Amino acid sequence: MEGDAIMKVRRFALMLVVGISLVGAAACMTTSISPADQAEVAISSGNLPPGYRDWTLISIARLGGKVNDLRAKLGNDVAIKAYRQGTLPFPDGAIITRLAWKAVPSEENNDALRPFLEQQLGKAETGRLLVDSFVAGPATNIQFMVKDSKKWASTGGWKFIEFDNGKPAPQAEGGEKSCYECHEPAADTDYVFTRYAQ
Ligand code: HEC
Repeated sequence: MEGDAIMKVRRFALMLVVGISLVGAAACMTTSISPADQAEVAISSGNLPPGYRDWTLISIARLGGKVNDLRAKLGNDVAIKAYRQGTLPFPDGAIITRLAWKAVPSEENNDALRPFLEQQLGKAETGRLLVDSFVAGPATNIQFMVKDSKKWASTGGWKFIEFDNGKPAPQAEGGEKSCYECHEPAADTDYVFTRYAQ
């Protein structure tokens, strides 16, 4: 009889624990916000979104001349899914970022490549080739486009923001508008220039 009572108490305790866990899980589900929302909140309050550096690569680009930089475009999960499925316009919660670095030569890389290349191509051609060989140096600025078709309807449904040294760049009056206006030629692809590099 005593054992039976203990079993009953144990069963009750177990049910209590399960019950509390379920309530806890439900509370988490209703209060937790999606990673896209978290990133949007961070960006809107002037902070870099958590984990942006781990987002997925969309493509790369490079500007020559004085700018002489290397650029990578990354997308959060919502943006990448839309890219891969060819969804246009991008759904709310999509975020695309453009990272950029000064393009700098790497003596280490060039020294390793030089003897091999000289054998294949000769000295002159190797010189021409290595003069154009760059790696990412110091980071310059980071730009973001955050999609919320209602909140930012006047700029194509995107919030445009730039960060310099981890802080929002001081935007002149209408700064966002000037970002948007230059992105207008890409209206057919929802104001996004970058194509997904397969
Ligand atoms: C002078 C025109 C121009 C202006 C001004 C401009 N952009 Fe862009 N932006 C481009 C072009 C062209 C690309 C694609 C090539 C590249 O990355 O350089 C681009 C790419 C981007 C990308 C990657 C997604 C895409 O559309 O390819 C983001 C994010 C971005 N810009 C944000 C901004 C923000 C934020 C501002 C304002 C602070 C801004 N841009 C101002 C022309 C412009």
